[in-house]
Amino acid sequence: MSDVTIPQELAQKLVSSPTYASTDLFDTYRWLRANNPLGVAEVEGVDPFWVVTKHADILEISRNNALFLNEARATTLMTQTDVERAYAITGTPHYVRSLVQMDEPDHMKYRLLTQAWFMPANVRKREADVHALAKAAVEQFIALPGQCDFVKDVALHYPLRVVMNILGVPEEDFGRMLRLTQELFGASDPDTQRFKDALEPEQYRQLMLAVIQDFSDYFEAITNDRRANPRDDLATLLANAEVNGQPLPPFERTGYYMIVATAGHDTTSSSTACAMWALATVPGLLERVRGDLSLVPALIEESIRWATPVKTFMRAAAQDTELRGRKLKANDWLMLCYASGNRDEDVFENPDTFDIDRKPNRQIAFGNGAHLCLGQHLARMEMRILYEELLPKLKSVRLNGEAKLSESFFVNGLKTLPIAFELA
Ligand code: HEM
Repeated sequence: MSDVTIPQELAQKLVSSPTYASTDLFDTYRWLRANNPLGVAEVEGVDPFWVVTKHADILEISRNNALFLNEARATTLMTQTDVERAYAITGTPHYVRSLVQMDEPDHMKYRLLTQAWFMPANVRKREADVHALAKAAVEQFIALPGQCDFVKDVALHYPLRVVMNILGVPEEDFGRMLRLTQELFGASDPDTQRFKDALEPEQYRQLMLAVIQDFSDYFEAITNDRRANPRDDLATLLANAEVNGQPLPPFERTGYYMIVATAGHDTTSSSTACAMWALATVPGLLERVRGDLSLVPALIEESIRWATPVKTFMRAAAQDTELRGRKLKANDWLMLCYASGNRDEDVFENPDTFDIDRKPNRQIAFGNGAHLCLGQHLARMEMRILYEELLPKLKSVRLNGEAKLSESFFVNGLKTLPIAFELA
């Protein structure tokens, strides 16, 4: 074993989803940052990959989009079998082609279609809609009998409603959207994974093709509707968008709908739940923020750092290069560990303390560079509005059982948060 190789036990942890539901993850990252901040994980069944754990390196790689590519290799951690399955379906290492799977020149052409829409000035125009959804979520919350599972009762539904509202999906179809996105992206959920592992390659291909087809059919109908009846939503924008003077090809258009629907849901749910976890467990925090609502944005920012819902994205080196004294070869695969960057001792004082007084809070949960999260302003706004609405009504809150995290090395967060609370 060379000094580049990560100890087998730790490498194994990085590819096994239960680690992501335990504090093991942060112990592993801490060891790597101190002892091998840019090392290679070699695990059976997965191509070797570099593990990037330092804040500075994650930023450098994210910002150098000509050298570190998204399209060439899988953008999320996948087993060799999964990659082969994707090739069998799409001829690429990806199941879909959205912004995340594109490099220049296509990436910027596609991103520019909606970038202005996601900028703060435009997102603010949705404030009244988001406010109405937040009010409804808080009304449901205060009708509960002094205890609930905050994830299931609030944090899962509210961001789904916001993202479906901006996309223009009617309420009766929310369930279908949830199911489709979970079937497509829930690969590391243990139950879904067991079911998929039991399938023959051809059965698996047929299953995925059916899910992708279902998604495409659904959004083709929405596309046709918005071409005939334009509205003030993102679906209308995408239905009428053009790249290189042509309407978007159906595969790319479906990919666009999918990335907005999926990227905007679990991530925001996870940060929303994390803020409530902090209010329930950090002494004095609730009283302080409720007494001064101008602290809500700081609470949100620290919750995003703490939760870091997107745990990892992958990149591929375009050519031989050097980083932190290590020699990388063309086509090498790299795992960006955002949650490690967000606990990096070189950037954050007492990184394992939840502290809303970080100024500035240099969290990197939204990534950086050309792929920097498009939805960051919307995510911050919807969480701010929810807590501004909720906090004045909340007198006390405490944990009422064990808070549990979901098992996923891609997007994860609290899957249950039992709380007991008193209203003001
Ligand atoms: C707290 C909530 C959120 C977190 C932590 C988050 C995190 C991320 C991360 C890490 C990336 C990849 C960045 C990179 O590769 O450098 C990303 C990309 C993206 N996010 Fe978010 N996201 C959140 C909410 C949202 C919302 C609400 C939306 C939209 C409704 C959204 C839409 C997107 C899109 C479209 C991309 C792809 C951008 C590109 O590749 O150019 N996200 N997000």
